[in-house]
Amino acid sequence: MKAILLAGGKGTRLRPLTIHTPKPIVPIFGRPFLYYQIDLLKQVPEIDEVMLSLNYQPRRIEELLGDGAGLGVRIRYVVEPAPLGTAGAVRYAGDALTESVVVINGDVLTQVDLAAVLRLHRERQAKATIVLTPVENPTAYGLVETDERGNVRRFLEKPNPDEITCNTINAGIYVLEPDTFDRIPRDVAWSIERSFFPSLIERGETFVAYVHDGYWIDIGTPEKYLQVHRDVLDGRFQAVPFGNGTPWVSPDARIEDGVELTGPNFIADGVSIKAGARVGPYAVIGQQCEIEEDALVERSIVWPSSRIGREAALRQAILGRRCHVGRSATLQPGVVLGDRSVVTDFSRL
Ligand code: GDD
Ligand code: MG
Repeated sequence: MKAILLAGGKGTRLRPLTIHTPKPIVPIFGRPFLYYQIDLLKQVPEIDEVMLSLNYQPRRIEELLGDGAGLGVRIRYVVEPAPLGTAGAVRYAGDALTESVVVINGDVLTQVDLAAVLRLHRERQAKATIVLTPVENPTAYGLVETDERGNVRRFLEKPNPDEITCNTINAGIYVLEPDTFDRIPRDVAWSIERSFFPSLIERGETFVAYVHDGYWIDIGTPEKYLQVHRDVLDGRFQAVPFGNGTPWVSPDARIEDGVELTGPNFIADGVSIKAGARVGPYAVIGQQCEIEEDALVERSIVWPSSRIGREAALRQAILGRRCHVGRSATLQPGVVLGDRSVVTDFSRL
């Protein structure tokens, strides 16, 4: 059985982080995001190949993941000539398929029981099965209404506030039957959410929902990107070895005496932290970063090889790779710096 991972989006909402790092491989505790999705797919031993559907910066992703041998799956790359939309991408990658296929949005993190989703799909002999998850505000997602038998009755992408009739949304995980793909046009962009799913309902085809109440998040905005790190540190999503509330410090990090570490936090290999610095709670410091004397870093994510000058303060900021925050500079909550940003001494952002 094959899985298609939709990873062709530009990651616009995560800019500037995604200028040099496409969204599917932004690091979560130093691990490219796609690794977590491959972990999920590996729950189902039947899945023997993951097709990565790409068009934005495919090379960088290919270089990193290779043929998948290091991850224990076979990876095939399908690079669209131009963005074909979520349905167009599925057809482009899956045109030759003859058996059910699992499709996953490349930016969702969850511990859904994928084997149970497949069982439901087969029991109901569905043309499509969709995972739903409850959220407080469905406006940023695809709203999905179901009937009492769990059939999908309505799919409304990005509803207006006055169109919200329930709290279940599309979690971005589907099982599809390839004999439905012939309705997807080959050469124009077509949306699975706005066109393909509504077409199943219009034609009265069996379209089934599986509701997942456990952990689920779309990492596509800076707020959600910070949140996923908090959730892992708090143990809401299990990603060994974190999540027990205490500081996690690489044995290879150099922490001087007089550093104040407040858990939960994560300090990667090769980090150096100087005396008087305060790090945490919820600080995630990437490999080879340097934090100088009396600096403060809390509720922030710092990608590898960045340097935080003495007495600088970061609160709820995200820094790309190789940034340099000068002495006594202050970054207020919400600041996001792209790779190689330089903040001069005493600046306030
Ligand atoms: N290959 C390819 N080609 N992939 C694409 C394309 C394309 O043209 N357009 C988007 N994608 C990929 C993105 O990389 C992402 O992994 C996934 O498809 C979904 O796109 P997003 O841009 O992240 O959509 P969204 O978050 O606004 O909404 C989608 O996800 C929600 C759940 O997180 C929709 O599926 C909603 O219905 C859903 O609720
Ligand atoms: Mg998304």
